[in-house]
Amino acid sequence: MPNASLVIANWKMNGNKALVKEMTAFLRDNKEQFNAVDVVVCPPFTLISDLTRECYYDDIAVGAQNVSEHESGAYTGEVSTSQLKEAGVGCVLIGHSERRQLFAENDEQINRKIKSALSADLQVVLCVGENKSQRDAGETWNVVSQQVKNALQDVATDNAGKIVVAYEPVWAIGTGDTATPEQAQEVHENLRALVVDLFGEIGNKLPLLYGGSVKPDNAKELFSQKDIDGGLIGGASLKTDDFLSICQAAQ
Ligand code: G3P
Repeated sequence: MPNASLVIANWKMNGNKALVKEMTAFLRDNKEQFNAVDVVVCPPFTLISDLTRECYYDDIAVGAQNVSEHESGAYTGEVSTSQLKEAGVGCVLIGHSERRQLFAENDEQINRKIKSALSADLQVVLCVGENKSQRDAGETWNVVSQQVKNALQDVATDNAGKIVVAYEPVWAIGTGDTATPEQAQEVHENLRALVVDLFGEIGNKLPLLYGGSVKPDNAKELFSQKDIDGGLIGGASLKTDDFLSICQAAQ
């Protein structure tokens, strides 16, 4: 089991300067309620500097939702690992289902992004998950395990300490149709075995997060599962009370 629980907020293309101020002040005022939980907030790129400024004296870490596989160059609209590091970002989501579905990211590109991010000493949160038809067809583990193997192939064991895996069933994202704790734990138990197989004993310390309609009323039961070490939170991370409740549930 990892040393601490980890809760990551994925604001997606939401939020503004006002939310940065409101959320950081609210979390600061209530920090003692989740002091055993590592919290990362991943805002849109344009809010990263506001967030790093507001979080400077707190241990709320700042993350990014994506990163280029390229170091620099003519890649309009992209952001590089060095630019994220310079902006104070320590962690980056890679392979989110919305990047795969809406921006045609494939496993090969995700693998290149992961290696680029790790070489820049960024913590990587690899997002994996099956869609509804794959689950209904009983293909969940085949899909998820292949995504993990393809993404992490030829990643050195020395880098395992910088890797997080987030299981986000696509059919649960933004739908309110949360995976049951049993459904989530079944996949997480297999994920734990897979990362131990890939990286050895350090795989037991690799945080495995669940994402997909995590809410205050289901977080505690999800996070109490043996191989669920925290959550990757979308909609609920934009609401101060809800996000605090979810961080408390990870305590
Ligand atoms: O990356 C987290 C996100 O995909 C989950 O979204 O709104 O279902 O919590 P949501």
